[in-house]
Amino acid sequence: MRKQIAAANWKMNLTFQQGEKLLDDVLAAKIRLSPDQLAIFAVPFPYLLMTRSEVAEETNYEVSAQNCYHKKSGAFTGEVSAEMLHSIAVNYCVIGHSERREYFNETNAMLADKVNLCLENEIIPIFCCGEPLNIREAGTQNDYVAVQLKESLFHLPADKVKDIIIAYEPIWAIGTGKTATTAQAQEMHAHLRSVLAAQYGSQTAGQISILYGGSVKANNAKELFSSPDVDGGLVGGASLVASEFIEIIRSLKS
Ligand code: PGA
Repeated sequence: MRKQIAAANWKMNLTFQQGEKLLDDVLAAKIRLSPDQLAIFAVPFPYLLMTRSEVAEETNYEVSAQNCYHKKSGAFTGEVSAEMLHSIAVNYCVIGHSERREYFNETNAMLADKVNLCLENEIIPIFCCGEPLNIREAGTQNDYVAVQLKESLFHLPADKVKDIIIAYEPIWAIGTGKTATTAQAQEMHAHLRSVLAAQYGSQTAGQISILYGGSVKANNAKELFSSPDVDGGLVGGASLVASEFIEIIRSLKS
């Protein structure tokens, strides 16, 4: 089975102390993950080392950055490179979250560079895609997300792309409390997998975990994750509440 993943995206929330307490509370639930399951915490840069040491003794609990810069190194004050993340043993990085695309003008081409830098530094990108509301209303969401994949990922060979995690996050469902229905999520995930299969073959496409993001909560995770092409979730708001995220981890397919 491809990996089933519960990924917490804390965004720009929580103090260091609050983050530490949240991790303690989630880990205190002692959920044993199978070899096919992963729990990932995408935390702010200053909390990466603390989070890494919190999960160090756990099996299949991982730490992720929320972003990295699209250049290798140099005079880019305030930015963080993939190489820096690698040097502190961070093995995952969220790339192309819709908030970065929207507020920081990240383009598909820049995201392709970020993906390359991550892979060069042995970091698995959690690559986000997803359409805004007007595209969904126009009914052109399938083409829209296919272009996002093509322009940021399809320069990669199959043996690289198979390790990437994809997160489908319809922008109209992020932080709005408006979740895609299970049927909408499954339909889009199957579409994404078919786009990957057309480029790389169905065997490679079948290995890639595709997470759903957008108002995943304890009370809808199980149903969303039960769909055959939904391999877990990228979770914002609900990942800030220990009891919610614990239940979301428990909702992963086993
Ligand atoms: P949300 O955020 O769960 O708060 O909707 C998801 C995300 O942006 O990753």
